[in-house]
Amino acid sequence: MPRAIISPSVLASDFGILTAECKRMIKGGAEWLHMDVMDGHFVDNITMGAPILSCVSKGVPGIFMDCHMMVAEPEKWVDDIADAGGALYCFHLEATNAPIPLIDAIHNRNMRAGVAIAPDTPSTAITDEIANAADVLLVMTVYPGRGGQKFLERCVPKVAELRSRFPNKDIEVDGGVGPKTIDVCANAGSNVIVAGSAIFGAENPEQVIATLKSTVEA
Ligand code: DX5
Ligand code: ZN
Repeated sequence: MPRAIISPSVLASDFGILTAECKRMIKGGAEWLHMDVMDGHFVDNITMGAPILSCVSKGVPGIFMDCHMMVAEPEKWVDDIADAGGALYCFHLEATNAPIPLIDAIHNRNMRAGVAIAPDTPSTAITDEIANAADVLLVMTVYPGRGGQKFLERCVPKVAELRSRFPNKDIEVDGGVGPKTIDVCANAGSNVIVAGSAIFGAENPEQVIATLKSTVEA
């Protein structure tokens, strides 16, 4: 299995001091920062877009922005997110009819490409062709749209199914993940762990990051 990577979701951070929050997480052991981009169409919420990501990448040199694109037209934002310094562009499979050309477009802009599936999308929707072209597979364990929701354990078998098909791929889980739910995620084979409220809501985020990481590595 690929190595453990912890990606705190800044959705649970104080947006008023976003760059400082990102730096605090990196200091606390986070390797990636998970940036939830929502457009009010694909999901019923609006968060941030390329202008804010651009400020973050300038303010936090060397940051790896794991951009989770909860947007209705993922093709539309590839250039803007690349220009803003995005490192991983993860789009929803439900939002496109042409995932392979989109992955190519993302790679052409020197970003890693991720494919996300929402709770009601089966793992088999990620065909071998799609998975082989992508760098990261993201299994949502809540319905996209908001932080702080309850972890949906019924999504976990999809992680196991993808891990058995793709032993070397980065498989990310996102939604309701924290010290209480990490065991099942790690056992199923996810290695990229997104956590928002569990990390930012903790008194000692550094400790939570370390716990999540060591559980995946165990
Ligand atoms: C949900 C987002 C998640 C969310 C995770 O739509 O994609 O990244 O912020 O937050 P927690 O860990 O609080 O569920
Ligand atoms: Zn997310």
